[in-house]
Amino acid sequence: MTDILSPVKLGEIALSNRIVMAPMTRDRAGPGDVPTDLMADYYRQRAGAGLIVTEGTQPSPAGKGYWRTPGIHSDEQVRGWRKVTDAVHAEGGKIVMQIMHVGRAAVQANKDADAETVAPSAIQCPDKIPGPDGVPADTVMPRALETDEIASVIAEYVTAARNAIAAGMDGVELHCASGYLPMQFLSSNTNQRTDRYGGSVANRIRFVVETLQAMSDAIGPGRVGFRICPGVRFNGMDDANPHETYAALLTAVDGMGLAYCHLIHIPLTGQDALDLVRENWSGSLIENGGLTLDTAKAVLAEGKADAVSFGYLFISNPDLVERFRASAPIAKANRANFYVGDGNDHVGYTDYPCWARDPS
Ligand SMILES: Cc1cc2nc3c(=O)[nH]c(=O)nc-3n(C[C@H](O)[C@H](O)[C@H](O)COP(=O)(O)O)c2cc1C
Repeated sequence: MTDILSPVKLGEIALSNRIVMAPMTRDRAGPGDVPTDLMADYYRQRAGAGLIVTEGTQPSPAGKGYWRTPGIHSDEQVRGWRKVTDAVHAEGGKIVMQIMHVGRAAVQANKDADAETVAPSAIQCPDKIPGPDGVPADTVMPRALETDEIASVIAEYVTAARNAIAAGMDGVELHCASGYLPMQFLSSNTNQRTDRYGGSVANRIRFVVETLQAMSDAIGPGRVGFRICPGVRFNGMDDANPHETYAALLTAVDGMGLAYCHLIHIPLTGQDALDLVRENWSGSLIENGGLTLDTAKAVLAEGKADAVSFGYLFISNPDLVERFRASAPIAKANRANFYVGDGNDHVGYTDYPCWARDPS
């Protein structure tokens, strides 16, 4: 039976335990979308995780859609992230960067005034997104990418992956879930293209396959993971046949030697999403979505995943792994501070206590 506290290797990345911190946008980057010292503290506090996946990080100004998300396209951002990776590594942890290009899921006031909003097709995201004041605002009508522009978007991801490694990251995770750019290519309702990047399933998966291949060529496949959520409706996603789409995608990337597939597991009509991944993907798998210690242990015991990730629980339990180890109480997160905390960035961010130091 697999012990949740036992080491595991995901591609080239060696984890001291199987508990992963899921990527979480926290909207606390500084001017220029540069990671701050406070962000380094936040990640340092959570370095007991076998692996941290950072918050979604934009590869370019056009890839930004939310307020105060960090970037990985300027030297200053690379230097900011270096403080984060040094802090995590000093505690013996591992950290990969989630690279997130939002595509059409963008509010103009959240990004540079001259930054464009692009997508596979000119179809506006119907869901509103919080603006700088936290009030949900209309998204931007995107411009459809020209066929000969797509290589330059993939090149942004490649530069981002190289920059992440230069900043000391142990790898990168391509965000292909939650209705952002890669998923806009995957989903039939947001990809109405008639070129080789749209139409058939083989064409709709092409952007993700080429991006993963290009990032792998740049930094080695064993340092590249990807995140999917078959069937998710967030940000206006409505794929006509998620089973077909994801079976094709997973089969296409299975032989690349990638580090892992990170599944956000939600209910799917028909075949269960975890079974769908297991059937079409032979590499390492991180399972995510509403897990508790007991359900996580069960998934590992059944051999259905190699590691498990937790989001909410890591917000309010920086020492989650120690708490699991000691069967200590689990603290509840305050949703009010998920994003910007009362104008005080540390509130609900770095001020959750460690149980071992302050049992209560
Ligand atoms: C505040 C917050 C921010 C999130 N931001 C991201 C993100 O940037 N990228 C991503 O892939 N998922 C993001 N998620 C989703 C989580 O990674 C995770 O999939 C979700 O919370 C379900 O896992 P859980 O039940 O263990 O929390 C976010 C979740 C929360 C609560």
